[in-house]
Amino acid sequence: MGHDDTLKNVPIFSELGNRDLKRLAKLMVPRSFRAGEVIVKENDQAAGFFVIASGAVEVVRGAEGPNPQVLATLGSGDFFGEMALFEGYPRSATVKAVEDTECLAITRWDFTAEMRTHPEIAVAMLPTLVRRLRATDERLSE
Ligand code: CMP
Repeated sequence: MGHDDTLKNVPIFSELGNRDLKRLAKLMVPRSFRAGEVIVKENDQAAGFFVIASGAVEVVRGAEGPNPQVLATLGSGDFFGEMALFEGYPRSATVKAVEDTECLAITRWDFTAEMRTHPEIAVAMLPTLVRRLRATDERLSE
């Protein structure tokens, strides 16, 4: 399966046509992680945005401290790494593979340029971002 076939199954790219998917696929680099491997580390500077092709990851805050907190578990078709890219701040959390995981990664520069030419990508990200905020809000009131 080519990267563009993988991208077809990623909800945030669902509005893109075949030609755009092929172009985007060329900008995305496959990265494999073993179960337990850290993909993104809290407080590190951000270089990229990731889409999960297969496998699963955990988003953990305070992973190295006494009270690590799992914020979310993400799987195939999900994305992560957008917060640091949008804000220009360091990574907000650690993202760790919980099983062998294949990602497609794109640089901050390329992803920003994609969103400028295809704002439908950014629009398609919004429901997920809101869902994540809502889940966090709900957890706060527990
Ligand atoms: P970023 O801050 O770049 O790196 C860590 C990533 O974890 C972050 O982007 C989001 O993609 C993801 N993340 C952070 N907080 C949450 C959350 N509450 N729910 C789901 N994913 C999150």
